[in-house]
Amino acid sequence: MRWSDYGTPEDYRRMAGALAVVLIALAGLAVFDIIVIPGLRGGAAPYRGPDAPLGKTGWLDVSEQPATRGYMPAPVDLRALERSTPRLLERGRTIFARVCAPCHGPQGRADGPAASSLRPPPRDFTRPTGWKNGYGPADIFQTISRGVPGSAMASFDYLPAEDRIALARFEMSLGKFPHPAQKAKIEKLAEGFKSERVPNKIPVSLAMEKLEQEASKIPDLGEAGAPAVLDRPRAALWLSRSTAWRAGPRALAEAACLQAQDNGFSTSAAALSAGDWRRIYGEFMAWRRES
Ligand code: HEC
Repeated sequence: MRWSDYGTPEDYRRMAGALAVVLIALAGLAVFDIIVIPGLRGGAAPYRGPDAPLGKTGWLDVSEQPATRGYMPAPVDLRALERSTPRLLERGRTIFARVCAPCHGPQGRADGPAASSLRPPPRDFTRPTGWKNGYGPADIFQTISRGVPGSAMASFDYLPAEDRIALARFEMSLGKFPHPAQKAKIEKLAEGFKSERVPNKIPVSLAMEKLEQEASKIPDLGEAGAPAVLDRPRAALWLSRSTAWRAGPRALAEAACLQAQDNGFSTSAAALSAGDWRRIYGEFMAWRRES
């Protein structure tokens, strides 16, 4: 028995060609796996501090991370605000570059790419003028945690307290003017400060499922509330959960129009008359008594 018994040299060449195509496809798949997939995983990952490795969430869709139980993180001592350490400054520098520099500029001179469009403009951290909440460490920590209402300066309380401390100390290092020490104020802050509980998390799909289950228990709105209602199941869910509207037709009109679309109401409901709202209120109350 020789190899030529099974096919002509032409047959073998064809088979070798097909084998090559399969091998090249497999190699391509391996490259996709090694290079592209980790990038996809990391791309939409939530911010997890400067030390968190990128591209390691392990899930292609981060909203589908497995359910995790909430926990209390180790207590944070706000007295760390009292002095800078090289580690704190380095951590602050990294987060600042990512999160704050677009507005405040890389050196804190209020010259980030977004700065020119902001009214009021961002604070210049290199100068002691114009500060609304003060520039001591406790002041800055509070500003970062709460934001400045009425400006583009949002609350960054989603950053862990340790990171907010690092940011405050780094920010102070950008201004070569004297900053107050605020020992007493820090002491007071530290006393009242409890570490924030990290809440339970469930995947988004499970949350949607639970919401649907809940909604399916609510009786149908029928014709009640026409023509103010756009999305009946959604409006029924809102009406059964919210209590604000039950005070009367006026409260109903205000609450419904304030969140129209989120609560299944039509935005044109704002044009309805007081009489319409009295009728609709009556219909909703009757629906509620039945359910
Ligand atoms: C979207 C733009 C934007 C980003 C991002 C931003 N800020 Fe601001 N920040 C502002 C603006 C605008 C003001 C001025 C607010 C005012 O004058 O009312 C401000 C003011 C401040 C102040 C001074 C408040 C005072 O007492 O006057 C501090 C401190 C501050 N920002 C820290 C930070 C830190 C730290 C970060 C990053 C975690 C950050 N900001 C990110 C826009 C921004």
